[in-house]
Amino acid sequence: MTTSTSAEPTRRDFLYVATGAVAAVGAVATAWPLISQMNPDASTIAAGAPIDVDLSPIAQGQAIKVFWRGKPIYIMNRTKKQVEEARAVPVSSLPDPQSDQARVKEGHEQWLVVIGICTHLGCIPIAHEGNYDGFFCPCHGSQYDSSGRIRQGPAPANLPLPPYAFLSDSKIKIG
Ligand code: FES
Repeated sequence: MTTSTSAEPTRRDFLYVATGAVAAVGAVATAWPLISQMNPDASTIAAGAPIDVDLSPIAQGQAIKVFWRGKPIYIMNRTKKQVEEARAVPVSSLPDPQSDQARVKEGHEQWLVVIGICTHLGCIPIAHEGNYDGFFCPCHGSQYDSSGRIRQGPAPANLPLPPYAFLSDSKIKIG
């Protein structure tokens, strides 16, 4: 008798606990799709997914900065003069010899897309500054030209190029 009295509440407790557990699991299951719908970009971007950039608002002579994988990316709509300057310099005279043609996409020569991290010690250079119509790094004075190539100062290499492709004349995918 004593055994059955003490067994009954135990069984009820178990049922109560079990029901509560199912309800809690149910709540989590319904909450998850809602949360994942609210924040699709945060997790995707954190994972380093590619980003699409609309180029149409960038006027000729302007540059914008976007972020991909936490890195600043400069997208510059170069003027005819900037392209000509970049192509007029003898490649062999450059500290890190690379032609302008090798740094842009054929058929989209006015667009320069570079990772905006100085190859000296990692500062972010400023666009449209310096003596070469390109980028100037205020930390120690490195100067990059309108092709993002190092021309003067302590930086040892050109601004790196991120992987990207043109989806149309006015849209690129970075990554
Ligand atoms: S970090 Fe750019 S010049 Fe030193």
